[in-house]
Amino acid sequence: MLAIDFGARSIKAVQLSKTGGGYHLENFGIVLTPPDSILHGEIKDVAAVSQALAKMLRKKRIYERGSVIAITGQKVIVREITTPLMTEKELAEGIQWEAPKYVPYDLKESLLDAIKIEELEEKEGSKMMKVLLVAAPKSLVEQQISVLKNVKIQPKAVDIVANAQIRAFENYLSPVSSSEEDGTRIDIILSIGASTTEITLIEGDRLKFTRTILKGGNDINKAIEKKLNIPFNEAEMLKRKIGLSLPEEKTEKVAEMEEIEETEEDLGKEEEKEEKSEEEALTDKIEKVKKEKTEKENSEESLALANQKEIADLINAGVYEIFNEVRKSLNYFKTQYQKVNYKRIILCGGMAQLPNLGQVLKKQFGITVVIANPLKGITVNEHEVDINHLDKYKSALATAIGLAKRER
Ligand SMILES: Nc1ncnc2c1ncn2[C@@H]1O[C@H](COP(=O)(O)OP(=O)(O)OP(=O)(O)O)[C@@H](O)[C@H]1O
Ligand SMILES: [Mg+2]
Repeated sequence: MLAIDFGARSIKAVQLSKTGGGYHLENFGIVLTPPDSILHGEIKDVAAVSQALAKMLRKKRIYERGSVIAITGQKVIVREITTPLMTEKELAEGIQWEAPKYVPYDLKESLLDAIKIEELEEKEGSKMMKVLLVAAPKSLVEQQISVLKNVKIQPKAVDIVANAQIRAFENYLSPVSSSEEDGTRIDIILSIGASTTEITLIEGDRLKFTRTILKGGNDINKAIEKKLNIPFNEAEMLKRKIGLSLPEEKTEKVAEMEEIEETEEDLGKEEEKEEKSEEEALTDKIEKVKKEKTEKENSEESLALANQKEIADLINAGVYEIFNEVRKSLNYFKTQYQKVNYKRIILCGGMAQLPNLGQVLKKQFGITVVIANPLKGITVNEHEVDINHLDKYKSALATAIGLAKRER
């Protein structure tokens, strides 16, 4: 299946096929999003996005003409609700009556979906069931469908980002707890992108809670851009180079790093190669300009060095703002359920590659962090796909990979 994921930093396409025991990555493509054309999961400039996507698909020789897409953002409502026991047919109708309690916008202008999760034990003579309600404004989906139409692709299915990520990380999820003592085991998928951060709580392989925070890596770039009066892409590079500051004690630091390295491969290695990324043409250009600058105007370069501390502070501030929102969600969920036992944070999204983010996250939350690889268990078509290139982007490809795992 082909999947397309529209992000504020980049648009990704992933083509997977199902094999006997797993999946095979046939091809993938990634292109920088035209400036200001996608934000918070919404397409602001359909023409510009269509053009960029068409070019990427052509270049990558991706000819499949049907695709899965995903929606996200604060307007997407995902709630576990309790309703009287109904058949699927009854539910399809009944949800129209239930939904207004949870959906703050016009139902006529929205898409609704309800999936029965489980039947509950009979209480006071009435049989009830748990249902997952999903609602989204139609406009959110229509923007993406317009883009697909422009590039002559049929929409095959619309999913939510949280579901795609659960599918992408099925290999990382903890089994449901079998003992009372252990409490409710919850895994956390934390996806930090350019304009949004998605936090998803999962029990077993079941979605329990998801929330979109309208903050991401681009906000840090903007802060650096403004403070130092430098181009956005230069800010992007400085952010990647400097990364998050590690807090104090050395011994503890090492121990944490080891734990993260056990669960994730060669993050450090990627850092060095990052600047040579071939399709990030814009980044390359800036890189060239920067080099020329170093030759000609050494003074500006040393100015950048002097600003290192300032930049580090901005990166820290941006990341901690996100952490605060994450903490609020974790605390909120804990008040809704009894004895929640947070097992691990599965970290993904482009920002998962920010130096030290995993270590600091673990320290801040006291929960094991895994910088997860959505390619785990997926074989790759090496005729079409440059493995090194793919490896660099794996964190950012989680949503697209999870979407492409769908069979229909
Ligand atoms: N090697 C890296 N080091 C640090 N940050 C990185 C690295 N690679 C990508 N990022 C950051 O990750 C973010 C992009 O992540 P991602 O591709 O997941 O976002 P997106 O899907 O385009 O955006 P959205 O938030 O709209 O979903 C950018 O802010 C970028 O700076
Ligand atoms: Mg994204």
